[in-house]
Order: sequence, then C-alpha cells, then structure tokens
Amino acid sequence: MKKRIAVLAGDGIGPEIMKEGLKVLDAIAKQFNHIFDYKEALVGGCAYDKYGHPLPDETKEVCNNSDAIYFGAVGGPKWENLPPELTPERGALLPLRGTYNLFANLRPAIIFGPLADAASLKSERLEGGLDILIVRELTGGIYFGRNKVKTLTLHEGALQGNYAVDYMIYSVPEIERIAAVACDAAMKRNKKLTSVDKANVLESSKLWRKVVTDYVQSHFPQIQLNHMYVDNAAMQLATNPKQFDVIVTENMFGDILSDLASAITGSIGMLPSASLAKTGFGLFEPIHGSAPDIAGLNKANPLAQILSGAMLLKYAFGLNRESKAIEEAIMKALENGYRTADLANKTTQEGKILLTSQMGDKVVEYLMVKS
Ligand code: NAD
Ligand code: IPM
Ligand code: MN
Repeated sequence: MKKRIAVLAGDGIGPEIMKEGLKVLDAIAKQFNHIFDYKEALVGGCAYDKYGHPLPDETKEVCNNSDAIYFGAVGGPKWENLPPELTPERGALLPLRGTYNLFANLRPAIIFGPLADAASLKSERLEGGLDILIVRELTGGIYFGRNKVKTLTLHEGALQGNYAVDYMIYSVPEIERIAAVACDAAMKRNKKLTSVDKANVLESSKLWRKVVTDYVQSHFPQIQLNHMYVDNAAMQLATNPKQFDVIVTENMFGDILSDLASAITGSIGMLPSASLAKTGFGLFEPIHGSAPDIAGLNKANPLAQILSGAMLLKYAFGLNRESKAIEEAIMKALENGYRTADLANKTTQEGKILLTSQMGDKVVEYLMVKS
C-alpha cells in the first residue's frame, strides 16, 4: 500500500517524539511492504516564527494533499501571549480540527498490564486491567462557539473591557453524529455507554442528554446507557474507573476527563488519539501537549505518539494487523521492564530507564522479533 502522510511535529517535545513515531512507521513499512510518503510541514509556534502564522498556507497545502495527518504537539510559553488567532492552539490546532470536520475524537485509556505499578490508583482498583474509550466531541461546544454566534458585538466589546465571554453551543445534528460514533464503538465492545454532561446547570447539556437518550433508544436499544454529571464522572474515574466502558462527552469535558484518565493509566505520555471526519480522513496525535518543561532533554515518553501512529494505520488505512503489531511491540518493551522516566519508579531495574530515542529503538527492536 502506498499512502501520503502529512507530518506535523510542532513544538516542544513534538519533534523528539515524532522522530520515534516515524522510526516505528518506517519499520512497519519495511516489514509489511508498504510505502509511506511523508511530507513534513511546520505547525504551531515554530511555523509562526518562520512564516508569521501558526498554520501557514504551505502546511495547509501539505495536509490537503495527504491521506492522513500525523501530529505531534503545539504551543509553549513563547507564544501564549500572541493575539488569540495567532496562537498555536487557536490559530493552528483548532482550525485544523474545524477545517477537516474532525468531530469524533477517540481517546482510548488502556492500562498496559506491566504498567499497573505506575498507575495512580491502588492496584486492587484496577484488577484485571482497564480499557476505557473516551469519545470526545471535537468541533463543537465552547471551543467553537464564537465561530457560530452571528452577533459578535458583545464578544468584541468584551475583549476590550471588563468582560470575557465564551459560548457553549450544540445543535441536534452535532450531538447525534457523535452519539452515533459512540454507539458504534460500544456495539463493538461491551454495549455499555456513559454520557457525561452538566445537565443540572447547562442548556447545551440538557439538549445533549435528550438527544443522546433519544438516539440510543431509537437506534441501539440493546446498549446500556447511563448519564453522569461531569463533576461526578471525574470523581468516579479517580476512584472506580472500571465501571466505565465507552464514555461520550462534549468537547471541553472530554479534554479534561482524558487527562485524568491518562493519570490512571500511568502517564499522560501513554495516551494516543484519533480525530476523525465522517469521510474517514483523520488527524492522529497524543493527548498530551508540547511539555515545555522537558523539551529538548530527550526524556519524553514517545509511546503516545507511537500509539497514535498505530491508530493512524488502523483508522485511516485499515491496516489492523500492522496497528496490532505496534501495540504488541510496546507491550513487549514494557513487559521486559523498559520505561521512560515518567513511568519509572523504585521497582524499575537499573539500566532500564530509557531516553526518548532509546524507547523508540526498543519498540522497533521488538517489532522486528518474530514471535
Ligand atoms: P502538557 O501535556 O504539555 O504537559 C503536562 C505535564 O505532562 C508536564 O509536566 C509534561 O512534562 C508532562 N508530559 C506531557 N507529555 C509527556 C510525555 N510524552 N512524556 C513525559 N511527560 C509528559 O500540558 P501543558 O503543560 O498544560 O501544556 C503545554 C503546552 O502544550 C501548552 O502550550 C498547551 O496549550 C499545549 N498543548 C498542546 C496540545 C496539542 O498540541 N494537542 C495538547 C495539550 C496541550
Ligand atoms: C488537547 C489539547 C487541546 C484541546 C488544546 C491544545 C487546544 O488540550 O488536544 O487535548 O484542548 O483540545
Ligand atoms: Mn487536552
């Protein structure tokens, strides 16, 4: 198979972990006889520094001519005080999600068995492992409200005065389409869906709850659906995460809950994501950010980036075997005790705490071993 991949490494640790992600994709290409044609482009702060915009035309062009986007992370203190539309987050990442209609963000939170000792919870709360899928709505809600509101008078005035305002807006079709994705996922798993909202306070959440309920009842009555307020969901995740199978939630709640879920699984450096359009086109990125505090030190965990590559192969190209092979190689590296610093603890053997690049090499090594 020959495919074009737009490679947008971004800022901070982005380039370091992307290097490892590509190392693994190269190994897959070699082993399974594929050609991955990478086109690298700048995005985020580094693009702003070179072109004066975090999402320059050159980069859009590369994305438009690709079969999938492989993304690192963007942002950092250097660019946080730019005008909002020029920041890496609001000027590049959100427009990419919006332009390509990447409304369905799949964030699997899985504990790899050997990492039980790195998880933030007592092991008895995680007995038998943990496998949650967070389905986060990604192109609506409070992140995109200002694009939808026709009269921006209040907003524009507010920015110069004592007020600031954001709009949390959802339409019925937006909720239905994410409910459909979540139901499809639930049907392939344990037919259990938790919809998270704040329907005791927010109008958009009241609509969310009604639409999700109606959708499940009329299309998937066999799915066991329950509703939970987001504050309770945070508490339940931190105490009894095994009650969850698929969680579906709006944009901002999904952002927050997925960082929380990552802590349960050992490290935010472990969680990948797929942001998908109806067409199947997608952007694949770790859930974490550019980690400016450890950028340039070669110590970031590249596994979320590598696992995002595995999701790219599976969801964008239908290469399930290849995707599985990556997950298995990671499992072997972890079973053999290898850890990056974020996952290491007192029990980690000497010599097994790896740098970013060494972890990438280790995954490739296990990928090449025929089991
Ligand atoms: P962050 O996720 O970058 O970092 C939070 C903490 O987790 C830090 O201590 C960091 O060192 C650690 N961490 C993150 N990824 C890690 C990895 N792979 N290995 C080991 N440790 C890791 O969140 P933040 O500090 O709130 O944000 C930093 C910048 O990243 C901000 O500009 C933010 O807007 C941006 N951001 C970008 C994305 C994205 O591009 N998708 C996502 C989240 C945050
Ligand atoms: C994420 C990030 C982004 C979000 C930011 C950087 C815009 O936190 O992908 O989780 O909030 O969606
Ligand atoms: Mn986030």
